[in-house]
Amino acid sequence: AVNSETGAVFLEPVQGEAGVYVPDGDYLKTARDICDDQGALLILDEVQTGFGRTGRWFAKEHSGVVPDVICLAKAIAGGLPMGAMLARGSSSEAFRKGDHGSTFAGGPLICAAALATIDVIREEKLVERSEDLGRYLKSEIEKLKAQEVRGLGLMVGLDLNCDCKSLVEKALQKGVLINNTGEHTLRLIPPLVVTKEEIDRVVEVIGELL
Ligand SMILES: Cc1ncc(COP(=O)(O)O)c(C=O)c1O
Repeated sequence: AVNSETGAVFLEPVQGEAGVYVPDGDYLKTARDICDDQGALLILDEVQTGFGRTGRWFAKEHSGVVPDVICLAKAIAGGLPMGAMLARGSSSEAFRKGDHGSTFAGGPLICAAALATIDVIREEKLVERSEDLGRYLKSEIEKLKAQEVRGLGLMVGLDLNCDCKSLVEKALQKGVLINNTGEHTLRLIPPLVVTKEEIDRVVEVIGELL
């Protein structure tokens, strides 16, 4: 679909809301090459995947691909409302200071929260924790009778042969908050400070309900 008329290609390095789809081998690298050939920007949406979620600071690191622009939000300020856009090269010159403003953009309180969040992620080694505990979560989930388990770090999706909406409601009654992104798909994105014991409890509850 990309040709010389294309301005930019937007991709999530791991699709979140769609049900945690991790791209195959060199999908992102191929996207990068196609964009370069056609003179299009490659823009990665790391709103869900950024800040350690996939066991790297940014999911793009799994592929080695360098995008022109990265969109960020969610974890950037530890849950306080903030979004950001990072750009490099010629795309970083497209916006100049004062071109783009909004009432609360760049507010000092939120920016302080973001800096504190980054310090905590670094000091508490939450990126490494995401990789380690994510591997554990995925291996425990794989013991359940799921049709497919996908994921990177603490971002795991599983397809089940049952009504996932009702499973989510029943899990909530047992104090476990999960999310179904489709009729037959669950998405698990626990906080990066989740403990092994909490993961065991989640897996136990899903197992019981199945
Ligand atoms: C991958 C992804 N991109 C973008 C958005 C939208 O972000 P915002 O609400 O900051 O516009 C979301 C929201 O869930 C998302 O998951």
